[in-house]
Amino acid sequence: MTHVFTIAIDGPAGAGKGTLARRLADHYRLNLLDTGLAYRAVAYALLQLGLPLDNVSAAETAARQVDLAKLDRSVLSAHAIGEAASKVAVIPTVRRILVEKQREFAKAPPGAVLDGRDIGTVVCPDADIKLYVTASAEVRAKRRLDEIESIGGTANFDEILADIVRRDERDMGRASSPLKPAADAHLLDTSEMAIEAAFLAAKTIIDDVLAKRNKA
Ligand code: DC
Repeated sequence: MTHVFTIAIDGPAGAGKGTLARRLADHYRLNLLDTGLAYRAVAYALLQLGLPLDNVSAAETAARQVDLAKLDRSVLSAHAIGEAASKVAVIPTVRRILVEKQREFAKAPPGAVLDGRDIGTVVCPDADIKLYVTASAEVRAKRRLDEIESIGGTANFDEILADIVRRDERDMGRASSPLKPAADAHLLDTSEMAIEAAFLAAKTIIDDVLAKRNKA
């Protein structure tokens, strides 16, 4: 059986895991899944229907309807949808349905880079490589402010920071699959790193694991 290679990337919102995941998937020629988009799709469906985000049966139906091949980032990337996604993500049955789909995705050859909050701990506990990407809340808030300003928008740093802290608390504090590093994850703090440096650090970790495996 050919080995399907899996890279699991977890970390809080705004730590740079999405960009890193894309760079790694390109470099190692693997499929790519941003699992946050699946939770966002569920939240978006409820918002479109005007339903509260704690409507469990509607959220389950929306989760069953999620097609990982059809997630539209341009619709789902809005900040408010991320907030809403963090709320539907506390529903254990929604997580179970989406985790099943993510595992199916990961199984397809040649393998995949998946990024999210519970990839190394729950979705792919046997991943070949696990990275936990983090950065201080202040650095993540500053990056988000820069991003908003770079497209001509305006925002308030303190409000962004409060938002990030609140989202961290919800994602790390929930009972079902909270965000935390897997015991065997490599920690990558990008507070002082530009994306290229983070990519090179991750590549060093991965190449090292691959070299050791080839020797064994
Ligand atoms: O990564 P993101 O900002 O697109 O994720 C939006 C929310 O979805 C996040 O705050 C928590 C939830 N999420 C999750 O619970 N598990 C994942 N694997 C991915 C995202």
